[in-house]
Amino acid sequence: MATWPPSRPRERASARPFCNKHHMPDLFSPFTLKDITLRNRIAMSPMTMYRAADDGRITDFHIMLMGSRAAGGFGLVFPEQIAITPDGRTGTSCAGIWDDGQIEGLSRVTAIIKDMGAIPGIQLGHTGRKGSELKPWDGKVQTPPDHPEGWQVRGPSPIPFGGRFPYPVQALGRAEIKDLHRSYADAARRALEAGFEWLEMHFAHGYLGASFFSPLANQRDDEYGGSLENRLRFHREAMDAVRSVWPERLPLTVRLGSDDFHPDGVQFDEAVWAICQLKDHGLDLADLSLGMNTDDVKDVPFDKLAFMVERGSRVRREAGVPVGVSWNLGIPAVADRVIREEMIDLVMLGRPALSNPHWPLYAARELSHEDPLSLLPEDWSWWLRRIPGPEGSQGWPIAVRTA
Ligand SMILES: Cc1cc2nc3c(=O)[nH]c(=O)nc-3n(C[C@H](O)[C@H](O)[C@H](O)COP(=O)(O)O)c2cc1C
Repeated sequence: MATWPPSRPRERASARPFCNKHHMPDLFSPFTLKDITLRNRIAMSPMTMYRAADDGRITDFHIMLMGSRAAGGFGLVFPEQIAITPDGRTGTSCAGIWDDGQIEGLSRVTAIIKDMGAIPGIQLGHTGRKGSELKPWDGKVQTPPDHPEGWQVRGPSPIPFGGRFPYPVQALGRAEIKDLHRSYADAARRALEAGFEWLEMHFAHGYLGASFFSPLANQRDDEYGGSLENRLRFHREAMDAVRSVWPERLPLTVRLGSDDFHPDGVQFDEAVWAICQLKDHGLDLADLSLGMNTDDVKDVPFDKLAFMVERGSRVRREAGVPVGVSWNLGIPAVADRVIREEMIDLVMLGRPALSNPHWPLYAARELSHEDPLSLLPEDWSWWLRRIPGPEGSQGWPIAVRTA
């Protein structure tokens, strides 16, 4: 069993010279899923930035953020969670894909990502009872339905989240659930038109998919609630709707709220079962994350390196699907190790991707990659190869090498 953190990461990296022959994968090995090949195992995980226009259209900010990460060497680049309906946004400054007029802006995002050699991924989501939120810097609290920036939030059952999200939740009727599934399919069709090549459905973090799966938020007595089988019906139908328009040749993945860290909430064993079921509905890769269906959590290991990796590895083994996970994987030796040991297939970076647009290059240098500049677009590295200067003069972080 692997221990965290690896005891002497830098010595490990240099004791085992970098090899990219692909008989054993490492962080920089390509990864093929369906007809899509990522140039390495490093993904920028979706991050909501509260920088979209009020009508859900993306802005130059997104082009800058995504383009720079693709240029920095990430293999797969996601913008933020993109809402399938206006009330599926976190707040009014979050991006959406409920209208054909939103396709053009998203196409600009996919174009720059592809131009820089990465694959553009889209995360489709609906925030459910955790929507109608003010921007973090304006308070990050829910606003009431009659607030100019607020709306009536909806969820599986009329149970407010509580705390920062105090307002009443309208329980979705069956017809509304069907409408949402149609919205998922319409969004997937637009995503395809916009040029995305990887689609992740956001069923984590207390948003709508997570709340249907969790007994803490879902207390329905119809076919969408009660048994574990029923609590996964919303997701199976949503995936079927998306798969009906999203081509078989392109990856369809799910980010699942796999543990509520609460005795009455989702237990990880249930998530393992759920991922097995979703394989029959077109799932190509699982991204395990937290349920976040309550603030009343116990023992969430937020301060532990790589804390979702053991769970991801179990799903990979037991469900037999490729897995990518986030959470505290920003130390290159740790990220490389979880790929080398074939615990997971993809490293999904959140905060490290925010803080360092060139994280893949930084990691390559830390791990003594034989040619770190090969991670960059060719026309970008061309200049750096030809005008090298002394070590450190180009502005890259200097790799710490052990003797
Ligand atoms: C500013 C910010 C916004 C985020 N927004 C989303 C989101 O839209 N969708 C999502 O699935 N996760 C979101 N996350 C979670 C990240 O994708 C990631 O899983 C998390 O930060 C843990 O990875 P890390 O340890 O590499 O940061 C967000 C995280 C941050 C820091």
